[in-house]
Formats: sequence, C-alpha cells, structure tokens
Amino acid sequence: MKYADILQNKEVLEYYERGSAILDALGYTDHSVVHTKLVAKKAADILEAFQYSPEEIELAQIAGFMHDIGNAVNRHHHAEYGALLANEILKETDLSISDRVRIVSAIANHDESDGVAADPIAAALIIADKTDVRRNRVRAKDPILFDVHDRVNHAVTATKLRCGYEEKRITLYLTVDEEICTMYEYLDIFLNRMTMCSHAARIFQATFSLKVNGQKVL
Ligand SMILES: [Fe+2]
Ligand SMILES: [Fe+2]
Repeated sequence: MKYADILQNKEVLEYYERGSAILDALGYTDHSVVHTKLVAKKAADILEAFQYSPEEIELAQIAGFMHDIGNAVNRHHHAEYGALLANEILKETDLSISDRVRIVSAIANHDESDGVAADPIAAALIIADKTDVRRNRVRAKDPILFDVHDRVNHAVTATKLRCGYEEKRITLYLTVDEEICTMYEYLDIFLNRMTMCSHAARIFQATFSLKVNGQKVL
C-alpha cells in the first residue's frame, strides 16, 4: 500500500469529515485533511533531511495523513482512538505487521498530553504536527469569537521548519505579530508542544530550536 492509496481511502476521509464537524462544534483550529496532508509532507521532509529510506518516508506520510482520524470518536484520547481505527483500516492492506504497528504506535503517541517518540516515524510525526502553527488554521471568522489558540495561530504570519543534517539541528522559524499575541501567550499554549519536539529531535541526535521574529527563544 502506498501513501497515494490512503489519501483516497473512503473510511479515512469519512472520519475526517466527522472529526471536523466535532472540532468545529468545540471551536478548535483546523484538524482537517488540510492539516494532515501538511503534516504528512513535513514528516516526509524531516526524514528525507535526516537521510532515511524512501520506505520509511512512505510510512511517515501514511502516519501523518491518518494521525487525527480519532477526532471522529472523541477529541479526548483522539490519538489512542485514532491508532485503533487506523489499525483496522491498515489490516485490510498489504502492509507488513511490523510497518502497520509502527504507524499505529506513532499515531497513538502524537499527543503532547502523554505521547512520546520512540522511533524516527513517531518523532517526525510529532515535530510535523506540533509545528503546524499558521493563521489559516483559525476557523472562527469573527475575531471577537477568537479564543487564545485562535489568537496565537492568527498572530503567526509566517512559519518555516528547517532541518540541518550537518549541524544536527531542527529549527522552527515563526513570524509573530506581537500586537495580536504576546510571547507569554504563545509560550503558554506552545511550551509543552515545543518540549515534545525537543524530545523527539533526540531520535535524530538533533537539537530543536525555536526562533521568533529573528530571536532565539528556545
Ligand atoms: Fe492530534
Ligand atoms: Fe494534528
């Protein structure tokens, strides 16, 4: 099974439609296929930068695209629910048991509440997911309805993730409009996610850095 096949999988797409309706009702930022395709792409870029094989890159793309399907069950524990749903879907494919379990385990461990990176696929998924901060993730149209997550995402006008194989460093560059959100607010929301990225980067023997408006923050 290839990444292109899972992009067309009717069950996965149905989970995202349902999950998006639930998160819309909860007032969350975008967790649709726009987010998950971006995560798949970034996870692949990370593994490519650290010279992993095309086979492992493909597994990270599949995990990246499927990682948030659990939102269709419940936001709470969505990583674990998503892993079990993904397992059912992937059992019907020609993936080996070991590849399937690697994907399922990466999905189950992507949430900052209790997840951990134990291999390069899980690490790439975590870093790709936690660094998806951008203005167009905000779904509320009226700024009066913005919560702090919306305001922080709305304040980020440019995002770039750079992986340096030689210098063993992964850097997230953000341009933040500090008129909209202060660095205190940003760190209040994102510090645990950045800490998770920093732990995940160790899988690549790399350091994770955060630069905001040209200044090194972490
Ligand atoms: Fe998630
Ligand atoms: Fe996500």
